[in-house]
Formats: sequence, C-alpha cells, structure tokens
Amino acid sequence: MNRFIIDMDPGTDDALALIIALNSINLDLIGVTTVGGNARLLHTTRNAVSLLTFLGAQDVPVAMGASSPIYGSFTYAYHFHGTNGLGLQLPNPSTKTVQTKAVDFMVEAAKGVASPIKIVALGPLTNIAMAIEADPYLIDSIEEIIVMGGAVECQGNITEYAEFNIYNDPWAANIVFNSGVPVTLVGLDVTMKVALSEWDLLFTGDGKGQRLARQVLGNWSTMHPGSVYHMHDPLAVLAAIDHSPFSYHAGKVSVVTTGEERGRTIFLQETGPVRVAVDVDVQLALNTISSLLNSDPGS
Ligand code: RIB
Ligand code: CA
Repeated sequence: MNRFIIDMDPGTDDALALIIALNSINLDLIGVTTVGGNARLLHTTRNAVSLLTFLGAQDVPVAMGASSPIYGSFTYAYHFHGTNGLGLQLPNPSTKTVQTKAVDFMVEAAKGVASPIKIVALGPLTNIAMAIEADPYLIDSIEEIIVMGGAVECQGNITEYAEFNIYNDPWAANIVFNSGVPVTLVGLDVTMKVALSEWDLLFTGDGKGQRLARQVLGNWSTMHPGSVYHMHDPLAVLAAIDHSPFSYHAGKVSVVTTGEERGRTIFLQETGPVRVAVDVDVQLALNTISSLLNSDPGS
C-alpha cells in the first residue's frame, strides 16, 4: 500500500477528500501537513486536527506549514467555505499538532524508509516547494505528487486565467513542476465536470464520514443556495487511489507569476515530468467518490 502525506488547506472540499482518503484501503495516510489558502493557517490547522479527531484518525500526525506564499500573502476564501474555513464547528481536537514543521515532517518521512512516499497536494504548493528547496535529495524519495490545481484549457476560478491553489503561490508551483518529481495535475479541466447538486439521499448512514459529509455539504448549501458543489479535492485523492477514470497528456507546465495572468498554467505537450488530467469518466468518478464517502470502515 502506498504511503501518503496529504498537504491541505481545509476547506470544505479538503474535508471531503480526507474522508475519502481515510476510507480507502489503497492509501496509507502517514501524515497531514497544513498550509494557508482557503483560510488562515491557524484555521486550516485547527480544522485538520479537528477533522482527523472527528473521523477517529487522531493518531495521524499533523504538522503546520506555511502561513504565506513565497512572496506576499494568501488570498483567503472564507466567503466560499465559511467563517472558520469549514462552515461548521467540530468538537475541540483531543490531540495537538506535532511540533515538527511541515517541511521537516516531509523531509523526515521520506528518509530511511524502504518505500518512497507520495504526496497529495490540496492547497497552495508552498510547503512542498520549501521542502524540495530544503533537501535536494528529497526528490529521489517522492514517487509522485498528485496536485489539485491549474486550469490548462479552461477558465480559472479566482481569475479568468488562474485556479485558486496555483494563483496563491505561483512561484512554489514552478518549483514543484520543474523539480523533476513526477506530478499528476488534477485541475479545473476535469474537476469542473465532477459536481453534486443533490446529496440528501447519498450520505444517509450514521457513520462518521457520512455524518461529516452531510454537515459540510448541508452548511455549504445554506451559504450557497441553488449552487452545485464541485469535487475539486476529492477528485485529486481519487486520482491518487486510482488513475483509471482519468485521461492524461504528459509534458511540461510553467506558471505565470506576475501581472493579469498570474497563476496561469501553461502546458507544453512534450516529454516532461507533469501529466495533466485532460478528461475524466464523470459518472465513474462521482460513483466512486460517493461510494468512498459512504463506506465508513472505521465506524
Ligand atoms: O480551486 C480549488 C482548490 O482551491 C481546492 O483545493 C479548494 O480547497 C481550494 O484550496
Ligand atoms: Ca484545498
């Protein structure tokens, strides 16, 4: 089973992605690292610890990462996710975050183990870029980085050119995409095709994950009546578990860092370390995501 670190900025869709990760038998979650993005680092870290505790995974260590991008500051999305970045108050966490910082956690996790690690990146790529810069040998121990981010052939969601995670730290994205580590980019080109409009009949069980999914989506729909919910981060975790629903093109990706097109992901289809998801079997993806949200093996 592959050993994963999930780097996240919870965030409502990060929360759903975490349920899926914990419910998948193909994913051994060895740690969560947090980054600012959807909300301040204080909120994303508290949310990560509270989510793991609520889901009965309080033994998974959480390491705090970057509160700002390599330059400037993050553009938060409280208007979308809710006041604390999650739109609901979970019980206070029983465990505290580990003292290690996210960069050190990633470097240590990749060392001295037989199997290389994989990283799922669900927020701005600041932590991962800083870890690569901290230890040049790290790239030999990361088998794959699955990134929720980018908009290659479609419009962005924070500007017309850029997707939120990449826009928030385009410099970090360039470091990661050019590091030589194999990257799977799950961007708006596919995530905008995978959305739920109705979920009342989907998560009817009383398992922890089902209850959390109902609360997250229910509160979100109260804030955004009549809107569909796009499964951005859950789709990236699905790609980490099973690539079969996706079609990919391989190549190189460079990111615009300044001006009106900041955060734009420019894809050159040629030999390169990045494979971009260009299409997805929507029904298969939705069925698998719904099934994993509903499975609750730990309940
Ligand atoms: O553009 C969507 C991405 O930005 C998701 O990861 C969402 O959680 C936000 O971080
Ligand atoms: Ca996210």
